[in-house]
Amino acid sequence: MNFLQYLSFSTLACLFTLIFFGGYVSASGVGLSCPDWPLCPAGLVPMDEFLIEYIHRTLAATTGLLVIITMVFALKSKSSRRGMKLAAVIAAGLVLGQIALGGAVIVERLHALLVTIHFAIGMTLFSMLILVTVYAFQLPPPTARKEIPNSLEKT
Ligand code: HEM
Repeated sequence: MNFLQYLSFSTLACLFTLIFFGGYVSASGVGLSCPDWPLCPAGLVPMDEFLIEYIHRTLAATTGLLVIITMVFALKSKSSRRGMKLAAVIAAGLVLGQIALGGAVIVERLHALLVTIHFAIGMTLFSMLILVTVYAFQLPPPTARKEIPNSLEKT
């Protein structure tokens, strides 16, 4: 596996876990257990009273960072296809918008429309990252890439 494959798959796994926790936050009704934005009342310290929401936000920050790093490497990679670069850029835009929207969900006290858009953007982001990961797994292995110029020289 090459670096972009590891990176995109790890990002997808982190996002999946984040969405899982998001669903749990919503279903268990603890969305406002951490009523402040961007930090919880105890700052960076996790506490029992808002642990699930704290995990959701921490995973959101980690996923955001991973999505941006994935985009940078997808854009830098010479062998990545245009579709992969485009999906990675869209994912980066969506993740930033989604984190800001998460803040709005808190400030607006779980406004139904905002929570619905938050869910829809989460699904679109997940689709984009599946695309990036599938593209990454279609990249030729590093050895095959080195062999291409040699075989072309022979013809
Ligand atoms: C990439 C970032 C994020 C993703 C992909 C994401 C995804 C999700 C998902 C899928 C849900 C479940 C929605 C539902 O069942 O209707 C959810 C719920 C929630 N998210 Fe996020 N989220 C992200 C970031 C954030 C951030 C930064 C906050 C900010 C504080 C936040 C606050 C919430 C809250 C409060 C809920 C529960 C809403 C309710 O009670 O119905 N999210 N999230």
